[in-house]
Amino acid sequence: MFIKDIEFSSDVAEKSTLVAGIYSDGSLSASATWLDQKFHGEIVERMKKCDFSGKLFETTSFVLSATDYNHIILVCLGEKSKKYTSLELEKLGAVIYSAAAKLDKSISVLLDKDDLNFEECPGCIAAIIAFGLTLKSWTFDKYKTKNNDKVKLERIVFMTSDLDESRTKFKQLKNLADGIFLTREVVSEPANVIYPESLGHITEDELKHLGVEVQIFRPAEIENLKMGALLGVGQGSEKTPRLIVLKWNGGRQDEQPVAFVGKGVTFDSGGISIKPDDGMGDMKYDMAGSGVVLGLFKAIALNKLKVNAVGVMALVENMPSGSAQRPGDIVTSMSGQTIEIMSTDAEGRLILADALWYVQEKFQPQAIIDLATLTGAIVVALGHEFAGLFSNCDVLAKEIEQSAAVTGEKVWRMPLSEHFDKAIDSDVADMCNLSKPGTRAGGTTAAQFLQRFVNGKRWAHIDIAGVESTKDDLFVCSKGVTGFGVHLLFDFLQRNYVK
Ligand code: BES
Ligand code: ZN
Ligand code: ZN
Repeated sequence: MFIKDIEFSSDVAEKSTLVAGIYSDGSLSASATWLDQKFHGEIVERMKKCDFSGKLFETTSFVLSATDYNHIILVCLGEKSKKYTSLELEKLGAVIYSAAAKLDKSISVLLDKDDLNFEECPGCIAAIIAFGLTLKSWTFDKYKTKNNDKVKLERIVFMTSDLDESRTKFKQLKNLADGIFLTREVVSEPANVIYPESLGHITEDELKHLGVEVQIFRPAEIENLKMGALLGVGQGSEKTPRLIVLKWNGGRQDEQPVAFVGKGVTFDSGGISIKPDDGMGDMKYDMAGSGVVLGLFKAIALNKLKVNAVGVMALVENMPSGSAQRPGDIVTSMSGQTIEIMSTDAEGRLILADALWYVQEKFQPQAIIDLATLTGAIVVALGHEFAGLFSNCDVLAKEIEQSAAVTGEKVWRMPLSEHFDKAIDSDVADMCNLSKPGTRAGGTTAAQFLQRFVNGKRWAHIDIAGVESTKDDLFVCSKGVTGFGVHLLFDFLQRNYVK
């Protein structure tokens, strides 16, 4: 569920709640001043009685006597001279949603360029606030059969003087939101609903009609590709693996694509190296990397981005059974390199090994970015605030860091080094899927493993284990799955690769 009825208009909606601005020093912004005149000074009078501290994004609401409007919500915009970023405008939208959701069916938001300063694009202010509001309103409630939802809000009108610009900009941002929502939805779904085959059907349904080429490899075809590392992980489950390849040709014909590869373990029990019961249910989120690739391609296609992009979703279920892979097994990856399985729970790197090798061989991409809920170690290092970024290319890493700063999907660059590469050597095969005892640095040793399969290509790995879901309400996302990565990589493509 999310708010769908959003309009831009030159007037406020009748019988709605009105949203205007106030600065930290208690003075009214242009929209609130206009309202104050309309209501004969009543806003100023009411504010005198309010407990207002002047903190950025603080909200105050009250009911006016004898008007056709239900409530007034005043949002603190900070200092009058404050320069806004797009991320802060999104947060403003989220704050408005939180203040209004349970208050009224319909609101009119009056905040515009006379209230706040957004130099980058004054005509986009309403659209970006609307985007933040839309993102915040999304919830995963399809399995709740009783309607306990106290949300009343259904309709939002933004009063703005830049109608055309607002509508055009919002259309693009709504397309991006639709990509983010698809990611949030498939990642939120439990593993009895989302498994490799079913996610394949969803991918076709969502992307084919938008002009994305979707190719789905079934087990026999994956065997022909000699993806022994990926197949080994999937062999214990009745749900057979799939490898999905997405192609979007929006750029020049002679331009090499940018590749995105996603870990798609639809459930990670740990396999024979089974995980403890505590928190195992969260391993339905272990396909979040593939979920991001799917949502990203939806956003790219809806916005018809002028880029060439390929996506690979490596989908398996990791289960213990009589046919499951054992610790001690040795598998041969598509690259020909052999891997000694030390823990069947370090499975993400195994499926990515084959997916990365495939994508660099087949498409010679100008850059490869993989996303994976790869290690618990990255959560220990960076908590739920940053994703871990690993890269063999400083320019690529900088590009991703810049988009992280703009979108608020934060990354922190982590090291790769020779020392950690050596730590995954095996006595009996080319490498182990675990590092030597005592090495620690689990996020890095997993990344070193992946690096052995990118064949020197420009590559970045984003470990999203800590950020793919949240147990606290975040600014533009309520509790649950975040969709982290879609906005980040959409911005990254738009900024650096759209000509
Ligand atoms: N899917 C997990 C990583 C994970 C942990 C994701 C916590 C989200 C939250 C991964 O497959 C895994 O089990 N990794 C092991 C690796 C270990 C066996 C080297 C881990 O991190 O414990
Ligand atoms: Zn695992
Ligand atoms: Zn996993």
